[in-house]
Amino acid sequence: PQINRLLTHSLHCKRISKPWLEPQSRKSSYSKQKHQLKMPSQSLFNKTVALLFSKRSTRTRLASETSVTLLGGKALFLGKEDIQLGVNETPRDTARVIGGMTEGIFARVGKHEEIEELAKYSPVPVLNALSDLWHPTQILADLLTLHEHAHLFNNTKTQQPSDPSSPSQKRNKKGIYLPDLRPLTVAYVGDSANVLHDMLVTYPRLGHSLRVASPLKYRAPKEVWNRVEELGCDKGIWWGEDPKEAVSGADVVVTDTWISMGQEAEKAQRLQDFNGYQVTEALCREGGANPDWKFLHCLPRKQDEVDDEVFYGPRSLVFPEADNRKWTTMAVFDLFIGRWDIHAEANES
Ligand code: CP
Ligand code: NVA
Repeated sequence: PQINRLLTHSLHCKRISKPWLEPQSRKSSYSKQKHQLKMPSQSLFNKTVALLFSKRSTRTRLASETSVTLLGGKALFLGKEDIQLGVNETPRDTARVIGGMTEGIFARVGKHEEIEELAKYSPVPVLNALSDLWHPTQILADLLTLHEHAHLFNNTKTQQPSDPSSPSQKRNKKGIYLPDLRPLTVAYVGDSANVLHDMLVTYPRLGHSLRVASPLKYRAPKEVWNRVEELGCDKGIWWGEDPKEAVSGADVVVTDTWISMGQEAEKAQRLQDFNGYQVTEALCREGGANPDWKFLHCLPRKQDEVDDEVFYGPRSLVFPEADNRKWTTMAVFDLFIGRWDIHAEANES
């Protein structure tokens, strides 16, 4: 329920900030004129969010800076060359100091323990903008993209995304419909890294099955499997080494770079180990994917893991997926930073 609430709120953020993206069928209730009078929530008014990024970013940085602006706040980008963290100061002291002067921290780190340390000592919410183990905000954007394209999977080609006339759509108080998504078979072909790890702990809980192909030596680490088992997700996961077997029956095929940030020194070895794992039309045809399969990739992308035919072809949802980083991040910031003090007060009383 929490994930669906976040996704529904993401759609609301998108509609209210960019009403011209609204499907034709809803123009009357969401007219441009009506929207000119509406504002996104200003829950970050007079508030600052620290963007503590020790690694590069295009999407996550853009999504967070622009959505803080829309929510009425100030985003303070702190790159690894800008502050004392990691050179002269510990995560513990940094968390206390930054948290003392801001209302939230969105942190992109190397080792996941750094996020845990920041969260432990920060007086304000700390959200994960990517660590070596997890990339939670990416999975929200992926799920929103799949829900918005539910009509492609449900084979009801006349139904527009968020069409309120569909009987199965439930409307929330703001009139937002999150299109229902049938249970999907999602294949992941490639490196077992942060993006896959969050898929492992999320998709099975939402009723989707996951089929993963990755070389044995790149199997997800123990702390990820522990969490997978703790959440009961293991039953929804097939794991093997053969990419063709993994894409069997796949409605969606997903991959990520074979060389994540920080692994540049392993490049030659990794290119050798992942040879044969490139996502192509031929791989999915021979493996027996659903003929209408769609493609997701968190980006940035290299040709190693997916060829141009798939990446730029009609199956690819990668650019709507990238756009959705913004609306999902905006929803997360609104609920978990902008309204955090309201929740904290409610919890105290
Ligand atoms: N997908 C993603 O997190 O992209 P960036 O590294 O550019 O933020
Ligand atoms: N696995 C990639 C994801 C980038 C968004 C990395 O960590 O570099």
